[in-house]
Amino acid sequence: MIFATSNAHKVDEIRAVLPERVAVQSLKDIGFTEELPETMGTIEENSLQKAQYLGEKLGVTCFAEDTGLEIMELDGRPGVYSARYAGPGGVAEDNVRKVLAEMDGVADRSARFKTVITYFSGGKSVQFTGLCEGNILLSPKGNDGFGYDPIFVPEGCNLSFAEMRLSEKNQFSHRRKAVDQFLEYLKSSG
Ligand code: IMP
Repeated sequence: MIFATSNAHKVDEIRAVLPERVAVQSLKDIGFTEELPETMGTIEENSLQKAQYLGEKLGVTCFAEDTGLEIMELDGRPGVYSARYAGPGGVAEDNVRKVLAEMDGVADRSARFKTVITYFSGGKSVQFTGLCEGNILLSPKGNDGFGYDPIFVPEGCNLSFAEMRLSEKNQFSHRRKAVDQFLEYLKSSG
């Protein structure tokens, strides 16, 4: 099945939790170099937009996902703007720096990651949402993972996502929870 993303980290995380018989091909694997549109106002709409664009353009069954970090004290920001929070370049370190600056002196550091997967098949779409609650650190920790992983500690953990191995993050991450629902759907729909 084609995963409408060019983010290698997302591909690795999702491949690691899918059963071996579900072969996932990224946009790179199929030689699709165009950037997918992501111009909508919500994570749900962006996820649908990406899946629908690719599915209709190539006439294939595919899935896409959109993820955002929602910080309570920032009224849910960066949220749908997570990828380019610090500007059009979309550099993770700049995004992290901006979040930490906005959180300077803020006591309530609660936040959550939200992933919405859209499965697009035969002109129809279905969505699956995964949430992971946690807290924003005062400064980045760890070198693994990607994006906002160095400043996010999931609830009940002492380590940031960037201090975990992929297999640890995959035990309870937002993406894992969304994938689990997607798999259940695939199984139940035959
Ligand atoms: P998008 O879903 O590719 O639009 O990503 C939105 C932004 O969130 C990007 O800056 C990603 O780097 C970041 N992001 C997406 N998933 C994760 C994650 O699992 N951990 C940390 N950051 C993430």
